[in-house]
Amino acid sequence: MKESGFKIYFAPLQESTDYIYRGAHAKFFGGVDKYFAPYIVRQNDGTIKKSHLRDIRSENNQGYPMVPQILAGNSADFIFLARMLQDNGYDEVNWNLGCPYPMVTNKGLGSGLLPFPERIKSVLEESLPNIDCKISVKMRAGLQSNEEIFKLIDVLNEFPLSEIILHPRFGKQLYRGEADEAVFAEVHKTLRHELVYNGDIESLENINRLNLLFGDITTWMIGRGILKNPFLPMLLKNGCLPEKEEKAIILRNFHDEIFHKYATLLSGSSHLLMRMEKFWSYFCFVFPDPHKTFKLIKKAANLVKYEAAVNGNFQRLSYDEKDECGPNS
Ligand SMILES: Cc1cc2nc3c(=O)[nH]c(=O)nc-3n(C[C@H](O)[C@H](O)[C@H](O)COP(=O)(O)O)c2cc1C
Repeated sequence: MKESGFKIYFAPLQESTDYIYRGAHAKFFGGVDKYFAPYIVRQNDGTIKKSHLRDIRSENNQGYPMVPQILAGNSADFIFLARMLQDNGYDEVNWNLGCPYPMVTNKGLGSGLLPFPERIKSVLEESLPNIDCKISVKMRAGLQSNEEIFKLIDVLNEFPLSEIILHPRFGKQLYRGEADEAVFAEVHKTLRHELVYNGDIESLENINRLNLLFGDITTWMIGRGILKNPFLPMLLKNGCLPEKEEKAIILRNFHDEIFHKYATLLSGSSHLLMRMEKFWSYFCFVFPDPHKTFKLIKKAANLVKYEAAVNGNFQRLSYDEKDECGPNS
Protein backbone atom coordinates (compact mmCIF):
# COMPACT_ATOMS: atom_id res chain seq x y z
CA MET A 1 0.00 0.00 0.00
CA LYS A 2 1.36 3.43 -0.92
CA GLU A 3 1.93 5.46 2.24
CA SER A 4 0.62 8.70 0.78
CA GLY A 5 -1.24 10.07 -2.16
CA PHE A 6 -4.32 7.89 -2.07
CA LYS A 7 -7.77 9.39 -1.92
CA ILE A 8 -11.02 8.28 -0.35
CA TYR A 9 -14.37 9.17 -1.91
CA PHE A 10 -17.62 8.73 0.02
CA ALA A 11 -20.12 6.95 -2.25
CA PRO A 12 -23.64 8.31 -2.64
CA LEU A 13 -26.48 6.29 -1.07
CA GLN A 14 -30.04 7.53 -1.52
CA GLU A 15 -31.76 8.07 1.84
CA SER A 16 -28.53 7.67 3.79
CA THR A 17 -25.84 10.12 2.66
CA ASP A 18 -27.91 13.28 2.34
CA TYR A 19 -26.52 16.73 3.19
CA ILE A 20 -27.27 16.33 6.89
CA TYR A 21 -25.29 13.10 7.06
CA ARG A 22 -22.47 14.35 4.84
CA GLY A 23 -22.06 17.58 6.82
CA ALA A 24 -21.99 15.74 10.15
CA HIS A 25 -19.54 13.17 8.84
CA ALA A 26 -17.19 15.87 7.56
CA LYS A 27 -17.43 17.74 10.88
CA PHE A 28 -16.81 14.81 13.24
CA PHE A 29 -14.67 12.37 11.23
CA GLY A 30 -13.21 13.74 8.00
CA GLY A 31 -10.64 11.82 5.98
CA VAL A 32 -12.82 11.99 2.86
CA ASP A 33 -11.49 13.73 -0.26
CA LYS A 34 -14.87 14.03 -2.00
CA TYR A 35 -18.42 13.37 -0.88
CA PHE A 36 -20.76 12.35 -3.71
CA ALA A 37 -24.40 13.35 -3.32
CA PRO A 38 -27.08 10.81 -4.27
CA TYR A 39 -28.52 11.39 -7.75
CA ILE A 40 -31.01 14.05 -8.65
CA VAL A 41 -33.40 13.38 -11.53
CA ARG A 42 -36.10 15.20 -13.47
CA GLN A 43 -39.61 13.99 -12.73
CA ASN A 44 -42.12 13.22 -15.52
CA ASP A 45 -43.27 16.85 -15.55
CA GLY A 46 -39.67 18.07 -15.90
CA THR A 47 -39.36 19.41 -12.35
CA ILE A 48 -36.94 18.29 -9.65
CA LYS A 49 -38.15 17.08 -6.25
CA LYS A 50 -37.78 19.66 -3.47
CA SER A 51 -35.80 17.19 -1.35
CA HIS A 52 -33.33 16.71 -4.22
CA LEU A 53 -32.93 20.47 -4.63
CA ARG A 54 -32.43 20.94 -0.90
CA ASP A 55 -29.75 18.27 -0.94
CA ILE A 56 -27.57 20.01 -3.50
CA ARG A 57 -28.16 23.63 -2.46
CA SER A 58 -24.71 25.10 -1.89
CA GLU A 59 -25.54 26.64 1.51
CA ASN A 60 -26.37 23.11 2.72
CA ASN A 61 -23.02 21.79 1.55
CA GLN A 62 -20.48 24.17 3.01
CA GLY A 63 -17.12 23.16 4.39
CA TYR A 64 -16.43 19.94 2.52
CA PRO A 65 -15.85 18.99 -1.13
CA MET A 66 -19.06 17.69 -2.67
CA VAL A 67 -19.84 16.40 -6.15
CA PRO A 68 -23.50 16.27 -7.15
CA GLN A 69 -24.80 13.41 -9.28
CA ILE A 70 -27.39 13.29 -12.05
CA LEU A 71 -29.55 10.51 -13.45
CA ALA A 72 -30.31 11.24 -17.10
CA GLY A 73 -31.05 9.09 -20.15
CA ASN A 74 -31.08 11.78 -22.84
CA SER A 75 -29.16 14.93 -23.60
CA ALA A 76 -32.04 17.31 -22.81
CA ASP A 77 -32.23 16.07 -19.21
CA PHE A 78 -28.45 15.84 -18.95
CA ILE A 79 -27.93 19.44 -20.05
CA PHE A 80 -30.81 20.75 -17.92
CA LEU A 81 -29.52 19.09 -14.74
CA ALA A 82 -25.81 19.75 -15.33
CA ARG A 83 -26.43 23.43 -16.09
CA MET A 84 -28.60 23.84 -13.02
CA LEU A 85 -25.77 22.39 -10.89
CA GLN A 86 -23.21 24.50 -12.68
CA ASP A 87 -25.33 27.58 -11.93
CA ASN A 88 -25.30 26.52 -8.28
CA GLY A 89 -21.51 26.72 -8.28
CA TYR A 90 -20.43 23.12 -8.87
CA ASP A 91 -17.44 22.57 -11.13
CA GLU A 92 -17.93 18.80 -11.42
CA VAL A 93 -21.07 16.79 -12.06
CA ASN A 94 -21.17 13.01 -11.86
CA TRP A 95 -23.31 10.97 -14.28
CA ASN A 96 -24.97 7.90 -12.76
CA LEU A 97 -24.65 4.87 -15.05
CA GLY A 98 -24.87 2.42 -12.20
CA CYS A 99 -28.27 2.45 -10.48
CA PRO A 100 -29.47 -1.18 -10.67
CA TYR A 101 -33.08 -0.88 -9.53
CA PRO A 102 -35.70 -1.93 -12.14
CA MET A 103 -37.79 1.24 -11.51
CA VAL A 104 -34.79 3.14 -12.89
CA THR A 105 -33.26 0.71 -15.40
CA ASN A 106 -36.65 0.02 -17.08
CA LYS A 107 -36.71 3.70 -18.05
CA GLY A 108 -33.28 3.41 -19.70
CA LEU A 109 -31.56 5.17 -16.81
CA GLY A 110 -28.62 4.22 -14.56
CA SER A 111 -27.23 0.80 -15.47
CA GLY A 112 -30.22 0.48 -17.86
CA LEU A 113 -28.15 2.53 -20.35
CA LEU A 114 -25.08 0.29 -20.25
CA PRO A 115 -26.23 -2.19 -22.94
CA PHE A 116 -26.56 0.74 -25.38
CA PRO A 117 -23.15 2.27 -26.16
CA GLU A 118 -24.64 4.32 -29.02
CA ARG A 119 -27.12 6.02 -26.67
CA ILE A 120 -24.36 6.83 -24.21
CA LYS A 121 -22.28 8.21 -27.03
CA SER A 122 -25.02 10.46 -28.33
CA VAL A 123 -25.87 11.78 -24.83
CA LEU A 124 -22.21 12.72 -24.32
CA GLU A 125 -21.80 14.06 -27.87
CA GLU A 126 -24.85 16.32 -27.57
CA SER A 127 -24.36 17.35 -23.94
CA LEU A 128 -20.67 18.03 -23.37
CA PRO A 129 -20.38 20.96 -25.81
CA ASN A 130 -23.30 22.62 -23.99
CA ILE A 131 -21.93 22.58 -20.46
CA ASP A 132 -18.85 24.06 -18.85
CA CYS A 133 -18.26 21.86 -15.82
CA LYS A 134 -16.23 18.65 -15.58
CA ILE A 135 -18.15 15.43 -16.07
CA SER A 136 -17.24 12.25 -14.23
CA VAL A 137 -19.06 8.92 -14.50
CA LYS A 138 -20.01 6.39 -11.83
CA MET A 139 -20.90 3.08 -13.39
CA ARG A 140 -21.42 -0.62 -13.04
CA ALA A 141 -19.83 -3.01 -15.52
CA GLY A 142 -23.13 -3.82 -17.24
CA LEU A 143 -26.83 -4.45 -16.82
CA GLN A 144 -27.14 -8.15 -17.73
CA SER A 145 -23.46 -9.07 -17.52
CA ASN A 146 -20.06 -7.59 -16.75
CA GLU A 147 -19.02 -8.13 -20.39
CA GLU A 148 -21.09 -5.13 -21.52
CA ILE A 149 -18.44 -2.70 -20.35
CA PHE A 150 -15.96 -3.89 -22.97
CA LYS A 151 -18.22 -2.52 -25.75
CA LEU A 152 -18.29 0.83 -23.95
CA ILE A 153 -14.63 1.51 -23.46
CA ASP A 154 -14.06 3.01 -26.92
CA VAL A 155 -17.03 5.33 -26.43
CA LEU A 156 -15.84 6.47 -23.00
CA ASN A 157 -12.31 6.99 -24.34
CA GLU A 158 -13.63 9.42 -26.98
CA PHE A 159 -14.81 12.01 -24.42
CA PRO A 160 -12.99 14.30 -21.96
CA LEU A 161 -14.37 12.75 -18.77
CA SER A 162 -12.66 13.82 -15.55
CA GLU A 163 -12.73 10.33 -14.02
CA ILE A 164 -14.63 7.06 -14.00
CA ILE A 165 -15.70 5.29 -10.85
CA LEU A 166 -16.35 1.62 -11.52
CA HIS A 167 -18.28 -0.73 -9.27
CA PRO A 168 -17.54 -4.01 -11.03
CA ARG A 169 -20.90 -5.72 -10.66
CA PHE A 170 -23.75 -5.81 -13.20
CA GLY A 171 -27.13 -4.24 -12.52
CA LYS A 172 -29.23 -7.42 -12.42
CA GLN A 173 -26.89 -8.73 -9.75
CA LEU A 174 -27.86 -5.91 -7.38
CA TYR A 175 -25.46 -6.50 -4.46
CA ARG A 176 -25.25 -10.28 -4.72
CA GLY A 177 -22.02 -12.16 -5.35
CA GLU A 178 -18.56 -10.69 -5.38
CA ALA A 179 -17.34 -7.54 -7.10
CA ASP A 180 -15.51 -8.72 -10.25
CA GLU A 181 -11.89 -7.68 -9.73
CA ALA A 182 -10.75 -9.38 -12.96
CA VAL A 183 -13.14 -7.20 -15.00
CA PHE A 184 -11.87 -4.09 -13.19
CA ALA A 185 -8.27 -5.07 -14.00
CA GLU A 186 -9.14 -5.61 -17.70
CA VAL A 187 -10.94 -2.27 -17.93
CA HIS A 188 -7.99 -0.56 -16.29
CA LYS A 189 -5.72 -1.76 -19.10
CA THR A 190 -7.66 -0.08 -21.90
CA LEU A 191 -9.55 2.83 -20.35
CA ARG A 192 -7.73 6.12 -20.85
CA HIS A 193 -9.43 7.94 -17.96
CA GLU A 194 -8.55 8.18 -14.29
CA LEU A 195 -10.18 5.12 -12.73
CA VAL A 196 -11.58 4.78 -9.21
CA TYR A 197 -12.43 1.44 -7.58
CA ASN A 198 -15.73 1.03 -5.76
CA GLY A 199 -17.27 -1.99 -4.08
CA ASP A 200 -17.24 -3.77 -0.71
CA ILE A 201 -14.25 -1.95 0.84
CA GLU A 202 -14.54 -2.13 4.63
CA SER A 203 -10.95 -2.24 5.88
CA LEU A 204 -7.33 -1.38 5.28
CA GLU A 205 -6.75 -5.07 4.51
CA ASN A 206 -9.27 -4.80 1.63
CA ILE A 207 -7.42 -1.81 0.18
CA ASN A 208 -4.00 -3.42 0.62
CA ARG A 209 -5.19 -6.50 -1.26
CA LEU A 210 -6.79 -4.47 -4.07
CA ASN A 211 -3.66 -2.37 -4.27
CA LEU A 212 -1.60 -5.49 -5.00
CA LEU A 213 -4.01 -6.36 -7.83
CA PHE A 214 -4.12 -2.94 -9.51
CA GLY A 215 -1.01 -1.14 -8.28
CA ASP A 216 -1.51 2.33 -9.71
CA ILE A 217 -5.12 2.88 -8.62
CA THR A 218 -4.93 5.65 -6.04
CA THR A 219 -8.58 6.50 -5.36
CA TRP A 220 -11.04 4.29 -3.53
CA MET A 221 -14.75 5.00 -3.24
CA ILE A 222 -16.46 3.58 -0.17
CA GLY A 223 -20.16 3.61 0.73
CA ARG A 224 -21.55 1.06 3.16
CA GLY A 225 -18.15 0.57 4.80
CA ILE A 226 -18.16 4.20 6.02
CA LEU A 227 -21.82 4.09 7.04
CA LYS A 228 -20.99 1.06 9.18
CA ASN A 229 -17.80 2.63 10.55
CA PRO A 230 -17.67 6.41 10.12
CA PHE A 231 -14.07 6.36 11.42
CA LEU A 232 -12.96 4.26 8.43
CA PRO A 233 -11.55 7.09 6.22
CA MET A 234 -9.63 8.48 9.22
CA LEU A 235 -8.30 5.00 9.99
CA LEU A 236 -7.27 4.40 6.36
CA LYS A 237 -5.53 7.77 6.13
CA ASN A 238 -3.93 7.95 9.60
CA GLY A 239 -3.66 4.27 10.46
CA CYS A 240 -4.89 5.06 13.97
CA LEU A 241 -7.95 6.30 15.82
CA PRO A 242 -8.63 8.46 18.88
CA GLU A 243 -8.67 6.94 22.38
CA LYS A 244 -11.73 4.85 23.15
CA GLU A 245 -13.41 7.42 25.43
CA GLU A 246 -12.93 10.12 22.81
CA LYS A 247 -14.28 7.80 20.12
CA ALA A 248 -17.44 7.22 22.11
CA ILE A 249 -17.93 10.98 22.57
CA ILE A 250 -17.43 11.63 18.85
CA LEU A 251 -19.94 8.93 17.92
CA ARG A 252 -22.48 10.30 20.39
CA ASN A 253 -22.04 13.87 19.14
CA PHE A 254 -22.34 12.67 15.55
CA HIS A 255 -25.60 10.86 16.32
CA ASP A 256 -27.00 13.82 18.27
CA GLU A 257 -26.22 16.32 15.53
CA ILE A 258 -27.91 14.16 12.90
CA PHE A 259 -30.90 13.51 15.15
CA HIS A 260 -31.42 17.20 15.95
CA LYS A 261 -31.08 18.27 12.33
CA TYR A 262 -33.65 15.70 11.18
CA ALA A 263 -35.91 16.67 14.07
CA THR A 264 -35.92 20.24 12.73
CA LEU A 265 -36.34 19.18 9.09
CA LEU A 266 -38.90 16.38 9.27
CA SER A 267 -42.50 16.77 10.30
CA GLY A 268 -43.87 14.28 12.80
CA SER A 269 -42.08 11.84 15.04
CA SER A 270 -42.82 8.80 12.84
CA HIS A 271 -40.82 10.32 9.95
CA LEU A 272 -38.01 11.09 12.34
CA LEU A 273 -38.01 7.59 13.83
CA MET A 274 -38.04 6.02 10.35
CA ARG A 275 -35.13 8.17 9.25
CA MET A 276 -33.14 7.32 12.38
CA GLU A 277 -33.91 3.62 11.94
CA LYS A 278 -32.29 3.80 8.50
CA PHE A 279 -29.29 5.54 10.07
CA TRP A 280 -28.95 2.85 12.74
CA SER A 281 -29.24 0.02 10.20
CA TYR A 282 -25.59 0.84 9.39
CA PHE A 283 -24.48 2.74 12.52
CA CYS A 284 -25.25 -0.31 14.71
CA PHE A 285 -22.08 -1.93 13.35
CA VAL A 286 -19.83 0.31 15.46
CA PHE A 287 -21.44 -1.23 18.54
CA PRO A 288 -20.32 -4.50 20.11
CA ASP A 289 -23.57 -6.35 19.34
CA PRO A 290 -24.98 -4.80 16.13
CA HIS A 291 -28.06 -7.05 16.02
CA LYS A 292 -29.14 -6.21 19.56
CA THR A 293 -28.25 -2.53 19.06
CA PHE A 294 -30.44 -2.25 15.98
CA LYS A 295 -33.28 -4.28 17.50
CA LEU A 296 -33.55 -1.85 20.41
CA ILE A 297 -33.85 1.07 18.00
CA LYS A 298 -36.43 -0.70 15.83
CA LYS A 299 -38.57 -1.50 18.86
CA ALA A 300 -38.72 2.15 19.97
CA ALA A 301 -42.28 3.21 19.14
CA ASN A 302 -41.98 6.84 20.23
CA LEU A 303 -39.33 9.46 20.89
CA VAL A 304 -39.11 8.80 24.63
CA LYS A 305 -38.42 5.12 23.95
CA TYR A 306 -36.03 6.04 21.16
CA GLU A 307 -33.98 8.20 23.52
CA ALA A 308 -33.87 5.37 26.07
CA ALA A 309 -32.72 2.93 23.35
CA VAL A 310 -30.00 5.32 22.20
CA ASN A 311 -28.79 5.86 25.78
CA GLY A 312 -28.78 2.10 26.36
CA ASN A 313 -26.78 1.49 23.21
CA PHE A 314 -24.17 4.10 24.06
CA GLN A 315 -23.85 2.75 27.60
CA ARG A 316 -22.99 -0.66 26.20
CA LEU A 317 -20.47 0.85 23.82
CA SER A 318 -17.04 -0.35 24.74
CA TYR A 319 -14.16 -0.92 22.45
CA ASP A 320 -11.79 -3.76 22.09
CA GLU A 321 -8.37 -2.08 22.30
CA LYS A 322 -7.08 -4.37 19.55
CA ASP A 323 -9.32 -2.65 17.01
CA GLU A 324 -7.99 0.83 17.64
CA CYS A 325 -4.75 0.56 15.75
CA GLY A 326 -4.80 -2.42 13.45
CA PRO A 327 -1.76 -4.42 12.42
CA ASN A 328 -1.20 -2.05 9.49
CA SER A 329 -1.06 1.12 11.50
C1 LIG B 1 -29.48 2.04 -0.61
C2 LIG B 1 -28.46 2.41 -1.65
C3 LIG B 1 -28.62 3.60 -2.36
C4 LIG B 1 -27.69 3.96 -3.35
N1 LIG B 1 -27.84 5.16 -4.02
C5 LIG B 1 -26.93 5.49 -4.99
C6 LIG B 1 -27.02 6.73 -5.71
O1 LIG B 1 -27.90 7.57 -5.50
N2 LIG B 1 -26.09 6.96 -6.67
C7 LIG B 1 -25.08 6.08 -6.95
O2 LIG B 1 -24.24 6.33 -7.82
N3 LIG B 1 -24.96 4.93 -6.26
C8 LIG B 1 -25.84 4.62 -5.29
N4 LIG B 1 -25.67 3.47 -4.59
C9 LIG B 1 -24.48 2.64 -4.84
C10 LIG B 1 -23.32 3.05 -3.93
O3 LIG B 1 -22.90 4.37 -4.22
C11 LIG B 1 -22.09 2.13 -4.12
O4 LIG B 1 -21.72 2.14 -5.48
C12 LIG B 1 -22.38 0.70 -3.71
O5 LIG B 1 -23.01 0.65 -2.44
C13 LIG B 1 -21.09 -0.14 -3.67
O6 LIG B 1 -20.14 0.46 -2.82
P1 LIG B 1 -19.94 -0.03 -1.28
O7 LIG B 1 -19.77 -1.54 -1.35
O8 LIG B 1 -18.70 0.67 -0.84
O9 LIG B 1 -21.17 0.35 -0.54
C14 LIG B 1 -26.59 3.10 -3.62
C15 LIG B 1 -26.44 1.91 -2.89
C16 LIG B 1 -27.35 1.55 -1.92
C17 LIG B 1 -27.15 0.27 -1.16
